[in-house]
Amino acid sequence: EKGTYPHYMLKEIDEQPFVIRNIISKYQDENDSIKLDENIRQAVTDADRIYIIAAGTSYHAGLVGKELIEKIAGIPVETHIASEFLYNMPLLSKKPLFIFISQSGETADLRGVLVNVKEQGFKALTITNVPGSTLSREADYTLHTYAGPEIAVASTKAYTAQMAVFAILAVDAARAANVEIDFDPLQELAIVANAMEIFTNKKEEMEQIARDFMSVSRNAFFIGRSMDYHVCLEGALKLKEISYIQAEGFAGGELKHGTIALIEDGTPVIGLATQKNVNLNIRGNMKEVVARGASPCMISMEGWEDEEDTIVLPHVHEYLTPLVSVIPLQLISYYAALHRGCDVDKPRNLAKSVTVE
Ligand code: F6R
Repeated sequence: EKGTYPHYMLKEIDEQPFVIRNIISKYQDENDSIKLDENIRQAVTDADRIYIIAAGTSYHAGLVGKELIEKIAGIPVETHIASEFLYNMPLLSKKPLFIFISQSGETADLRGVLVNVKEQGFKALTITNVPGSTLSREADYTLHTYAGPEIAVASTKAYTAQMAVFAILAVDAARAANVEIDFDPLQELAIVANAMEIFTNKKEEMEQIARDFMSVSRNAFFIGRSMDYHVCLEGALKLKEISYIQAEGFAGGELKHGTIALIEDGTPVIGLATQKNVNLNIRGNMKEVVARGASPCMISMEGWEDEEDTIVLPHVHEYLTPLVSVIPLQLISYYAALHRGCDVDKPRNLAKSVTVE
């Protein structure tokens, strides 16, 4: 039930720190190490390549999942849109593992791929918020995201939960393969949960930013590089689906190759700058759009922030910044939709789970 909340979406945004703490406790054993099914560990370490298959927001979590598994465990990963993969399969490696990532566990586009790869004799792991769902039952293994029921059509807490589970899975695989790492996901996720809370407690500020940037705009751009780029795709999707503002997420370096033609006086451009190695590059990209009249809203992270940044995230591990930077984006979308009089929990033309192809 949504209790005192005006919308499920706002309640679910607020629940995220608790969801992350819940995930930590579910994936922690009595020695504070990772607790994960032996068979899943084996399936991941046996694979010569992992194929992550998903749709929508879960696909965006899968893009971050790829980065985490490749960077932490050193296993090659491809992330694919389910509906594309089904009819245009790339050449597969010799020992692939398929990971289906789905909040509902019922998305038809994913089921099509699952049936196909099972027929070919490949192993499948489903990461879902609904164990017992179709994708969970039909896969060989399931990992639970423990986010609790997500009612609002726009996905929020399922997304951050999925990325948290990817971080844990990646480290577990790295340890199983004796890969040297100095990243403790359970400790770092606890820091993330606290950082998330800072934003869920800053609703008035987020509402003001939504008013300043989104009240009259027809369109908006989200730019970022590497990890931040994936979050930009998610920020744009969130804004589109509930506020109906046309929004695009762009790789910072790609905007100048055409799309910059759309920047006019006052066009909102939200920049993400949480990654140290591309910090100067994304700031340069922001200068390019500001020179053409854009209204900038820069979201950076403590450690490499700039005085004029609109939002500065508390410092969290660079692998996990998407879990925190998405919170202001979710809140800005929520308030933009609210001020435009949109039905936040039930946007037009959308259903919570898409069980047709
Ligand atoms: C966006 C959204 C959708 C879903 C997509 C996949 O807010 O909710 O894009 O993420 O339909 O759904 P699941 O994760 O249930 O497979």
